[in-house]
Amino acid sequence: MERIIIPLETVPIISTSSKGDQSKWQVDNKWIKQNTRGYEGQAEVLASLILSCSTLTEREYVKYHLCEILLPNGETSLGCYSYDFREKLQEVTLERLFEANFSSTDSILNNTALSTEEKFEQLLRQVELYTGINVREELVRMLAFDALILNEDRHTNNILFLYNPMQKSWRLAPIFDNGLSFLSDEKDYPQGKPLTILKRKVKAKPLNSNFSKQLALYKGPAFINKTKLLRALETIDIDFGRAQQVLLSQLNDPSFAHLFYEGRVAND
Ligand SMILES: Nc1ncnc2c1ncn2[C@@H]1O[C@H](COP(=O)(O)OP(=O)(O)O)[C@@H](O)[C@H]1O
Ligand SMILES: [Mg+2]
Repeated sequence: MERIIIPLETVPIISTSSKGDQSKWQVDNKWIKQNTRGYEGQAEVLASLILSCSTLTEREYVKYHLCEILLPNGETSLGCYSYDFREKLQEVTLERLFEANFSSTDSILNNTALSTEEKFEQLLRQVELYTGINVREELVRMLAFDALILNEDRHTNNILFLYNPMQKSWRLAPIFDNGLSFLSDEKDYPQGKPLTILKRKVKAKPLNSNFSKQLALYKGPAFINKTKLLRALETIDIDFGRAQQVLLSQLNDPSFAHLFYEGRVAND
């Protein structure tokens, strides 16, 4: 496994996670995150492995790699890293986009009179007003993916837009920050407890705490190549531990069947 040294002078990045305490650093063009509550790194890498077996292009999701982190205090820890995805573009979170337009996502997301679908439609309408782009397909697909991986951290700062100031154009950033999935938080989801019980405890974001309500927004075609994914899991030299068990149990859940197709895998 790759070993990454955090130089003494590197300033840790303040976490924006809803659980708030994962240490992270930027070293050159790598963004490095330390496992804090459990196996966030393995979950992050497994999530990106699934997307690498999907119809999403490499621009639409961030690839994560497991690593051992040598901390400035001499201790080592497990974690993961990704390469900078911003290029020369400015990142604007969904939350910040609303703020910049003198609004807030709260008035939509916390409006108990609205259904999940209505919240989504209102959010989408505002985003289109602010950016000129329609991200319906990408967002519903991401929420379906979140349901599959049990991502409990898709808050409005983990949905990101990229702005090109030269061309004054917007696009959705690649899917990133999927580490709080697959029950990776072992403090909240202790090892040894039945998966069926733990899985029921996980709460979704941002439109509804119920994953199935967010999954129901997805009406599109199957986008994950199941044959390729199972082959990748067999051949990859990474121990995903419980994250893999959670994924396999999700694969047996018929509510996700429509996300998968049986595809051909190139023999190499
Ligand atoms: N590969 C990356 N490229 C560019 N920016 C990144 C990358 N990874 C993380 N960041 C930046 O760091 C912030 C925090 O990273 P994130 O993965 O969301 O962790 P967390 O939310 O747990 O703190 C992101 O919102 C983004 O601004
Ligand atoms: Mg984040």
